[in-house]
Amino acid sequence: IAAIDLARAIPKAELHVHVEGTLEPELIFQLAGRNGVTLPYDDVEALRKAYAFTDLQSFLDIYYAGASVLLKEQDFYDMAMAYLRCAHADRVVHAEIFFDPQTHTARGVPMQIVIEGLHRACVDAGQELGISAVLILCFLRHLSEDDALATLEAALPWRDRFIGIGLDSSEFGHPPEKFARVFARARELGLRLVAHAGEEGPPAYIRQALDVLQVERIDHGVRSIEEPALVARLASERMPLTVCPLSNLKLKGVQDLARHPLRKLLQAGVCVTINSDDPAYFDGYVTENYAQTIEALKLTPEEVVQIARNSFEASFVDEAQRQQWL
Ligand code: ADE
Ligand code: ZN
Repeated sequence: IAAIDLARAIPKAELHVHVEGTLEPELIFQLAGRNGVTLPYDDVEALRKAYAFTDLQSFLDIYYAGASVLLKEQDFYDMAMAYLRCAHADRVVHAEIFFDPQTHTARGVPMQIVIEGLHRACVDAGQELGISAVLILCFLRHLSEDDALATLEAALPWRDRFIGIGLDSSEFGHPPEKFARVFARARELGLRLVAHAGEEGPPAYIRQALDVLQVERIDHGVRSIEEPALVARLASERMPLTVCPLSNLKLKGVQDLARHPLRKLLQAGVCVTINSDDPAYFDGYVTENYAQTIEALKLTPEEVVQIARNSFEASFVDEAQRQQWL
């Protein structure tokens, strides 16, 4: 189909990808071997079989277990580099990559190891592949705000290595307002602000992320569709949503892609983007997300171009770089 070929060929930005969610089973086993970590799965096949999710939490349990093989600076480098090669092959020219430092520092891995490994991959990928890549530090919302504040302070020696902060992990019971102080602090520091909201959680969490955290993008945000007034607000403010269709499908946010609200949001004038979230776990990098969404929702070539343009509009690149891609 023409729209799918277009989606493959057109330059895109990826704005919602967790680097720990790009860790393919083969690399998990390779790193486990290299680091002497024993996994509760016999082989790659057995691990892949465990990727049968019922909701967000069932995924997160396996995702945090997978990340336990990451110990050395080279491990973080190899993971990010592997992602950037896949993204480049998908015609992603700019990536804003989430990482979860608390997943690693809680296991005794120093902040420096995490950030320097990821940053070195961003620099090398820029030189080798010409892809532009930046990092966004995410706080785990199932942990306390004090833990998030301590994590932000611990990362400040590498303040120039990440452009912003985000909020991820288990959404239910952990509303955005729980993190009001750490987002205020990050805003004072001049960091860019994003948060997951309305993935599983209610539309009220999206409103809180906007009004209390003052985020500049909403990650997922698909449950906004339940409140027409909220959709209208997102459209009038051109507040971007980083939508991840295959993630919503695999975590049972939608029963099938044909019922995904992406097209309705786009038609309402919302700045919708398409992203992969955790591509190693949800069976598809960004182009595959475009392709399956196009097929299910019968997106037109014009809509595909609009979504790709939205990805640059919603990105945190400077205006000169943006104009070059738009
Ligand atoms: N961490 C990695 N993927 C996530 C998702 N889809 N939602 C919340 N936290 C995550
Ligand atoms: Zn996510």
